Amino acid sequence: LSSIFVDVSGVEPGTQLTVMFLGKPVFIRHRTGAEIQKAQEQDSEAVGNLPDPVARNANITDQAAPASDENRVLPSPEGEAPGAWLVQMGVCTHLGCVPLGDAGDFDGWFCPCHGSHYDLAGRIRKGPAPENLPIPPVRWDNGLTLKIG
Ligand code: FES
Repeated sequence: LSSIFVDVSGVEPGTQLTVMFLGKPVFIRHRTGAEIQKAQEQDSEAVGNLPDPVARNANITDQAAPASDENRVLPSPEGEAPGAWLVQMGVCTHLGCVPLGDAGDFDGWFCPCHGSHYDLAGRIRKGPAPENLPIPPVRWDNGLTLKIG
């Protein structure tokens, strides 16, 4: 399986970088402190109330792990708050459109094709998409470089 390496040192908090991996977009989101806080608020309001309750995170061996914000984000590099980085496939789990960032009823992503709303952790909250945006194999490689795949 091929891997890609992405230097994210220029990705400012509050912005997102989209890269291509195996022909599909991957969203690399650098969350601000306010976004992390809001994601944690969404986390407590979402408990037991998620259309897709599992994490969909390829980096967690327990495939039944719950879709908590903590189970979706990357471990933060030194000096950054927990939950600062979220990496997920930019492919709507309904019929495969590319969702828009900073959009939708949950301030996360919105898929304009048929109206699916994802929250700040990339979890489906409203609309026809059946699953959370999947998280590919990803880890920090060296400093602020990510290895995806
Ligand atoms: Fe995204 Fe249908 S493809 S809502």
